[in-house]
Amino acid sequence: MRDNCVKILCVGDLMGTPGRAMFKKHIRSLKEKYNIDGIIVNGENTAHDGRGITPAIVDFLKRYGANIITSGNHIFSKRDIYNYLSTHKDLLRPANFPASSPGVGVSTFTVAGVTVGVVNVQGRVFMRELLSCPFKAAESAVMFLKPQTNCIIVDMHAEATSEKMGLAYFLDGQVSCVYGTHTHVQTADERILAAGTAYITDIGMGGAIDSMIGMKRHAIIHNLLTQMPSKFEVELEGPYHMHGIVLSIDTKTGKARTIERFKVIDEYLDLSDPELKEK
Ligand SMILES: [Fe+2]
Ligand SMILES: [Fe+2]
Repeated sequence: MRDNCVKILCVGDLMGTPGRAMFKKHIRSLKEKYNIDGIIVNGENTAHDGRGITPAIVDFLKRYGANIITSGNHIFSKRDIYNYLSTHKDLLRPANFPASSPGVGVSTFTVAGVTVGVVNVQGRVFMRELLSCPFKAAESAVMFLKPQTNCIIVDMHAEATSEKMGLAYFLDGQVSCVYGTHTHVQTADERILAAGTAYITDIGMGGAIDSMIGMKRHAIIHNLLTQMPSKFEVELEGPYHMHGIVLSIDTKTGKARTIERFKVIDEYLDLSDPELKEK
């Protein structure tokens, strides 16, 4: 930490083995380049088939520097993760899922002597309409965190731009940043709102570029054309990219000083690396 400022790097949805490989290969140099104190990663698609996450993948992401892993609609895709969610707070599920589902949607980590709060909520527009209100869930989580810290970052996992932007304006001045995930496409609308909350509609993804949100495109096009079932598979062929943001946060006020997008492109990844084999 320097000059009462903490720097946090947030990575968008990592898709399958290519997403994990990009994180392993590039996160260390990103951390050095931007002088980063802490890292938040969305891990809902990190399993080999792009659906869910396992305890071994959580360990992998943490080994390479993730402090907190957020998620979204795919969080319960792998049964192995249920017990992990019930017993750990470094992997979040959306806070507006039923309280009876495993896991929590709010947590903290401490870096450079600063406590950072993280909130994960999921949108309802064009998604699961029966989830409880993400605005009220986020508001409750912020009230819970405020006695501990002003530095609070919200991952709003949602489809609709309006719902993400609405949450940012709703929480403006109460949190350091609201950023979107889930669409896997990085948007160019990053800014700091009037009362000091940084905002971007979607921070992007990690995985194959010549794909549809990280999946092989032919099966998806077939499905769109025919409305017939087709098997969606993670695209393994390069080139690859990984997107996210870097936040500078005033540790006294919790207000954002800067929000900056990053994008890394790589032509080649060694996907036969034994560490990338899923357990
Ligand atoms: Fe995703
Ligand atoms: Fe998602």
